[in-house]
Amino acid sequence: MGGPMNDFTAVILAAGEGKRMKTKHSKVTHKILGKALIEWVYDAVTSAGIKENIIVVGHRADEVKKCMGEKTKYAVQEQQLGTGHAVMQVVPLLKNKGGNVIIMCGDMPLISTDTIKNAIKKHLDEKNAGTILTADFENPFGYGRIVKDSSGKVVKIIEEKDASEQEKRIKEVNSGLYCFNIELLIESLGKISNNNKQSEYYLTDVIEILIKQGNKVDTYKVGNNYEIMGINDRVQLSQAGNELRKVIAEGHMRAGVTIIDPSSVYIEPSAQIGIDTIIYPGTIIEGDSVIGEECIIGPGSRIINSKVSDRAEVQNSVIVDSEIGENSHIGPFAYLRPGSTIGADVKIGDFVEIKNAVIGDKSKVSHLSYIGDCDVGKNVNVGCGTVVVNYDGVKKHRSIIEDNVFIGCNTNLVSPVRVGKNSYTAAGSTITDEVPADSLAIARSRQENKEGWVKKKRQK
Ligand code: UD1
Ligand code: CA
Repeated sequence: MGGPMNDFTAVILAAGEGKRMKTKHSKVTHKILGKALIEWVYDAVTSAGIKENIIVVGHRADEVKKCMGEKTKYAVQEQQLGTGHAVMQVVPLLKNKGGNVIIMCGDMPLISTDTIKNAIKKHLDEKNAGTILTADFENPFGYGRIVKDSSGKVVKIIEEKDASEQEKRIKEVNSGLYCFNIELLIESLGKISNNNKQSEYYLTDVIEILIKQGNKVDTYKVGNNYEIMGINDRVQLSQAGNELRKVIAEGHMRAGVTIIDPSSVYIEPSAQIGIDTIIYPGTIIEGDSVIGEECIIGPGSRIINSKVSDRAEVQNSVIVDSEIGENSHIGPFAYLRPGSTIGADVKIGDFVEIKNAVIGDKSKVSHLSYIGDCDVGKNVNVGCGTVVVNYDGVKKHRSIIEDNVFIGCNTNLVSPVRVGKNSYTAAGSTITDEVPADSLAIARSRQENKEGWVKKKRQK
């Protein structure tokens, strides 16, 4: 949709205090799957093709602005006197603009781009002065209700706190998303009062004013009820998170990923996963992570901003800002810290920590080792208990282990040090000097047996 969208401005309301959230922060900066509530709303509306955006900020405006940055305009509502009052703050920016506006609450993160497009389409096709996105809720408590006459025409919106017993029984609720003709909206906003239970200027009152003046107002019912859920407290925050996690997991499953138990995985929207990969329960995939095809991820793994190549396995491990090559096996219980590049056909086993290191193809670090700030070549075997001693208390140093090296168990490599290709270190060695290629380095005292020592001790 090109043309009609250019005629549309989006206004997102985010000035409210969010009392029910019981938070020190702005409500709309609380996150679901790594993304603030307001970012979900903003992304949905910009994906629908709307280019002009205004966010109304007030309570903790600094936080909201920091979260959204320069990509949008802002209007400030100094005092939070209601949703209608919030929209009044945008009037100077909308005046003389003509066209239409879509108004949304910053606390409705489940709204989809398709629903926004459909609501706009209906608004334009039917030349409405106002179009309200609604849903029928089995439990409408807390939402504004859509009051209609016997012929099904909208009469007004009544807030929960102001509704009569009869009105409270209405199941059709206001989503907090509306399209308005800008000129008519501005005119009606001038007529609302705060004569209600909360002494607030309600945006919802504009509806009755428009209708009374003979303008056409209609509703558009959402397809998936959950889309219009407003996040007012932490319980709703987690419920909305569950919905979004489900949507994301289903997207991956439909695209060819096996997810054993979708309810137990957490996959952020920016992550990519290849086909025939199997995700076991308790897996968390965050940030811009890219998982290849035919991988086995989990159980119990956390992968942050990392790349896992085809057919790799990551079991009960934590991978941060790192890369894993094809066919490599990580874990159980490995920790790859930032800057680790693991080659192909590598094994990183249990209780191994790798930091800012390269591990070449076909190398093995099978158990209980720390490899920090080190370049490990191909075909290297690192024995159990090896430590790269990279820190002298002041500075970090880097070591090199060349191709085909065999590091004996419990070796300390005091950095900076190089172990030349094909060499061996004897178990228990503390290597402080360069080991030339094709050598055996033994750096420990020779064993001495004092025969008969026990007998002599007893005699004393
Ligand atoms: C609002 C609607 C209600 C609807 C519901 C949907 C009104 C009067 N009521 O109620 O009909 O069913 O949303 O979730 O509009 N805000 C401001 N400035 C203010 C007050 C609020 O910017 O002075 C912002 C908030 O930050 C929030 C949004 O407006 O993003 C909605 O405010 P909220 O207090 O959550 O409204 P509800 O009581 O949920
Ligand atoms: Ca709300």
